[in-house]
Amino acid sequence: MNNGAIGFIDSGVGGLTVVKEAMRQLPNEQLIYLGDTARCPYGPRPADQVVQFTWEMSFFLLKKNIKMLVIACNTATAVALEEIREKLDIPVVGVIMPGSRAALKATKSNQIGVIGTLGTIKSSSYKNALKSKVPSIEVQSLACPKFVPIVESSEYHSSVAKKVVSETLRPLKTRASLDTLILGCTHYPLLRPLIQNEMGSQVKLIDSGAETVSEVSVLLDYFNLAAQPRKNKPANAFYTTGSAAMFKEIANDWLELETINVEHAKIGGNERDQT
Ligand code: DGL
Repeated sequence: MNNGAIGFIDSGVGGLTVVKEAMRQLPNEQLIYLGDTARCPYGPRPADQVVQFTWEMSFFLLKKNIKMLVIACNTATAVALEEIREKLDIPVVGVIMPGSRAALKATKSNQIGVIGTLGTIKSSSYKNALKSKVPSIEVQSLACPKFVPIVESSEYHSSVAKKVVSETLRPLKTRASLDTLILGCTHYPLLRPLIQNEMGSQVKLIDSGAETVSEVSVLLDYFNLAAQPRKNKPANAFYTTGSAAMFKEIANDWLELETINVEHAKIGGNERDQT
């Protein structure tokens, strides 16, 4: 039993799709979230810079005594999970293996699509994860660099979003036997209705972030870290390195909460050297 908080990090608002699921599946837990909105998107950045930024976010939350860290960002998971997991003495969870496991469970045709940021697709992390489990699996990967800016600017309900999603996903639609598509970026579930509409109802969409929460739940029990039900549970806390007002607008809409507490956070420095 441990009543400490679980930390979640992402380049911006995308990790809120994971937090939403955590609030549903793990209501006893206090959640602390940090989005590096000021430096979003991470997708087009060099891997080494993403690793550095991920360390900076991790240290911000470690100072809040989190008991577990969830890297709720595929781009960061792809390049930084291994290093961070190795160096920290709390459990560190990424989003790529849980999404891959769920996709393998869902596919019947053995043909899986993966959409993600440039960084995630370039890393081949999903392809490697899927093939490490089922070598014969066929994977079609597609980078969708225009999706994250649409979500971060709160345009995900707009007609522009519909057009961009339709044009971007066109190459995947030629694969008739593709029956499962991994949303390999935690921002993409905010575009889910548009993506589903474009791909058709025969394609099962896998929300890698939501799948991750089930694994977090298992790990909490395995390490005896789950919080007990308590009346005075501290409120969930949200931090952004960017505009708190913009973050709050998307968070209120997505989490369907009346009001949440969002604070501006300052991160940076050479904290990676301290490990
Ligand atoms: N939400 C992130 C992901 O899952 C990153 C998006 C970005 O910053 O490019 O990959």
